[in-house]
Amino acid sequence: MLRRLLLVPLLLHAAAAGDICIVGSGISGSSTAFFLSNYTTVLSGGQLRVFERRAKRRRRAGGRLATVTVAGDDFEAGGSIIHPRNLHVRRFADLLGLAAKTNGDDDWLGIWDGSRFVFQTLRPPPPGASWLRRKLHALLNTLHLLKRYGLSLVKMDRFVQDMLQRFLLYYNGFESRPVFDSVEEMLKWSGLYDLTRRTLEEELVDAGLNSQTISELVTVITRINYGQSASISGLAGAVSLAGSESGLWAVKGGNWQLAAGLLKAANATLHLQEGIDSIHYAGDHYVLKSNKGHEYDCEATVVATPLDEVNITFSPAISISPRKMQHTHATFVRGLLNPKYFGLSSVSDIPELIGTMEVPEIPFSSISILKKYSEQDMTYKVFSRKKLNDSLLDDIFSRRKETIRINWPAYPHYEAPEVFSPLILDGKQLYYVNTFESAASAMETGAVAAENVARLLLARLRLPLPSRLHLGADDPDQRADL
Ligand SMILES: Cc1cc2nc3c(=O)[nH]c(=O)nc-3n(C[C@H](O)[C@H](O)[C@H](O)COP(=O)(O)OP(=O)(O)OC[C@H]3O[C@@H](n4cnc5c(N)ncnc54)[C@H](O)[C@@H]3O)c2cc1C
Ligand SMILES: *[C@@H]1O[C@H](CO)[C@@H](O)[C@H](O)[C@H]1NC(C)=O
Ligand SMILES: *[C@@H]1O[C@H](CO)[C@@H](O)[C@H](O)[C@H]1NC(C)=O
Ligand SMILES: *[C@@H]1O[C@H](CO)[C@@H](O)[C@H](O)[C@H]1NC(C)=O
Ligand SMILES: *[C@@H]1O[C@H](CO)[C@@H](O)[C@H](O)[C@H]1NC(C)=O
Repeated sequence: MLRRLLLVPLLLHAAAAGDICIVGSGISGSSTAFFLSNYTTVLSGGQLRVFERRAKRRRRAGGRLATVTVAGDDFEAGGSIIHPRNLHVRRFADLLGLAAKTNGDDDWLGIWDGSRFVFQTLRPPPPGASWLRRKLHALLNTLHLLKRYGLSLVKMDRFVQDMLQRFLLYYNGFESRPVFDSVEEMLKWSGLYDLTRRTLEEELVDAGLNSQTISELVTVITRINYGQSASISGLAGAVSLAGSESGLWAVKGGNWQLAAGLLKAANATLHLQEGIDSIHYAGDHYVLKSNKGHEYDCEATVVATPLDEVNITFSPAISISPRKMQHTHATFVRGLLNPKYFGLSSVSDIPELIGTMEVPEIPFSSISILKKYSEQDMTYKVFSRKKLNDSLLDDIFSRRKETIRINWPAYPHYEAPEVFSPLILDGKQLYYVNTFESAASAMETGAVAAENVARLLLARLRLPLPSRLHLGADDPDQRADL
């Protein structure tokens, strides 16, 4: 093919094209694979290998994107909602032909302080209510929120919009967006770095929010999205607040399909149930040893999992900044909540989404209804920082038919000022996507970090990149242009 021929001279001074190996099949690893194959046509000398150690129950890609089956229905167990301005994930879904399902915007939220609901939004109109009734409900709800939180609501929105505006810079084309070789540099360029230096609470006080809004509404949101208080760092906080906006969606059938689809689109070789135990630098390439006793030679290696709780031996040793992962216990219950636990007389008085304030005695962060089979039979999702034992669940629920518990090493435990591990772990061809998670953990931040790592890797291997970033149709002329 003419296009290939034109690229041959470039290959002469590029390193010999070998395999590129990626550890982890979550959204970070799969989008790294996708961008690598999307941005270059000359990986043909080698292949993309993706390793996934996960062995339990499910044999598929996705990592923290996974579904759980309760009474025959599938629900998101990990990463669930996608913001309308998460442009990479949006494009992935379009490209892969995955359908979106929108989340209802009018959740009936109650804020629980351990002894009572200090605030509740209005009960939503019944399903099938007229357009007018729904609009009216939304308007009244806004007034109801304004009455309690006042202008702090507007200031909170401005804070989030300002963050989103800066984040959008990461979708700029190649001409106006450098390749970054550290997370600090990447965040400073967009003006988001300072947000990682201080707590969300400090940022919001400076933005003029009152303390009631922070201890109630803001805390409810950070506890739902990151299992942590408003003292998380500011950027993670802003990202979690964005997750309370309207227009949120998820992939119909499960977000894990994004990861599986991207790996297919990249023509990557997926090694399922094969964990990498060691990564050794052998002079001009890496040798990866797996738990199956296999060895793989890789020209470049991308670590696409948080290293905080995995045992990979690196030789020579690498150095990363200490970081703790926040564990979130997701407990799925088919049954019925106990109104007495909430000091109420009827189940129908319990809000559909229970958010909580930062009170140590409250044993959970949030409870939401996933599906209503009838007024007496529902499936709920409970998030908590610790495992919920049966006796506690028997207090909270009057009836339980099925209970499923998942303990996620969910996201970093955020502590400002954040210290970032290197993107290039050894100064050579060993990359670490999940260092970016210390800024904020989400599907989209994984994709944004992966896109930069893909560009960085191709640039440092001196493989040709298209001269312009094509997020639209692939333009062969541009490639021949190199
Ligand atoms: C409960 C929960 C709720 C969340 N809610 C949202 C949300 O609503 N919206 C949102 O955008 N984000 C949300 N997130 C965050 C989001 O899910 C993550 O940021 C994202 O999925 C991380 O993707 P990743 O690819 O970086 O890491 P992971 O998905 O963790 O992928 C890493 C993979 O590497 C594998 N691995 C580890 N070690 C090895 C090894 N040695 N060899 C081979 N494979 C290995 C792991 O098994 C794993 O599959 C949530 C997370 C959790 C846990
Ligand atoms: C690259 O990705 C875009 C979508 O972002 C897609 O339209 C295009 O077909 C892809 N090209 C290749 C060569 O994979
Ligand atoms: C996909 O990869 C396989 C093996 O690595 C290779 O033989 C094949 O040509 C690739 N297909 C495409 C469309 O690149
Ligand atoms: C890692 O190895 C140490 C020591 O061998 C062990 O105690 C720990 O449980 C291991 N962690 C994981 C996540 O496998
Ligand atoms: C269950 O958990 C609660 C709250 O963490 C604790 O007080 C109680 O002792 C536990 N009960 C059992 C039987 O472990």
